[in-house]
Amino acid sequence: MKKITIAIDGFSSCGKSTMAKALAKRIGYIYIDSGAMYRAVCLYAINHGWIDEDSIEEEALKGHLEDIKISFTIDPESGKQLTCLNGEVVEDKIRSMEVSSKVSRISALPYVRQAITDQLQAMGKEKGIVMDGRDIGTTVFPDAELKVFLTASAEIRAQRRYDEMKAKGEEGIDYDEILRNVKERDHLDMTREVSPLRQAPDAVVLDNSHLTYEEQDAWLLDQYMQAASE
Ligand code: DC
Repeated sequence: MKKITIAIDGFSSCGKSTMAKALAKRIGYIYIDSGAMYRAVCLYAINHGWIDEDSIEEEALKGHLEDIKISFTIDPESGKQLTCLNGEVVEDKIRSMEVSSKVSRISALPYVRQAITDQLQAMGKEKGIVMDGRDIGTTVFPDAELKVFLTASAEIRAQRRYDEMKAKGEEGIDYDEILRNVKERDHLDMTREVSPLRQAPDAVVLDNSHLTYEEQDAWLLDQYMQAASE
C-alpha cells in the first residue's frame, strides 16, 4: 500500500473528526484537525478582547498572528489528541459555544486562512495523514489521493451536538440555539469569499445521517484501500 493523503471535508458537526480519527488509528496515519486551529486563533482573539458580536480588531489580530503558536499533544491517560495554544491545553475552551459562534468570522479572514493553510501543508508534507476541515481537498491538498465530502441533515447534526454537550454536563443548552448556530455556520462557511466550503469535483460523498459509526468506518476503510492500492 502506498502512503497517501486523505482529506475529509464537509459541514460542521457531521462527525468528520470522529471518522477521521478512527481511520487514522486503524491504518497508523497522523490525524490533523484543521478546525481546531481556526478555533485556537478565535480563542486567542477572544482572550485579547479583539472580537465581539459585530466587529473584529483586524489590525491587532493581523499584527499578532506570528505570536499564535498552535500545536497538538496526546493526553497520556485517554490517548486523545489535545490542542495547545502557546503551550496551554485549550481543548475544552476551543469547543465552547462562544468560540463556536465566533469562529466562522475568524476563519473567513484571508490572512488567517493563509497562515493556517501554510502550517497545514507543512504538517502534511510527508503524506500518511488524515486531515479534516472545509477546504482540505480543494485548497490545502488539492492533490490528495482520497477526498471525502461528508454530509448530514442540519437537524441531525444539531441533535448530535446537543447530546455531546449534555453528556459533558454543560448547563443551559438549547437545541434551537444549536440548530440556528449550525445553519448559520453552514451559510457562512459556504458563502465566504476565500476558500468557501465546496465539494471537490473528485471527492466521494457520504451522507451519514442514518449510518452507524461501524457502517461509516467500514465505508471509509474501503475507500482508503482502493485509493492506496491504485
Ligand atoms: O470543524 P470545526 O467546526 O471545528 O471548524 C471550526 C471553524 O473553522 C468552522 O467555522 C469552519 C472553519 N474551518 C475552515 O474554514 N476551514 C477548515 N479547513 C477547517 C475549519
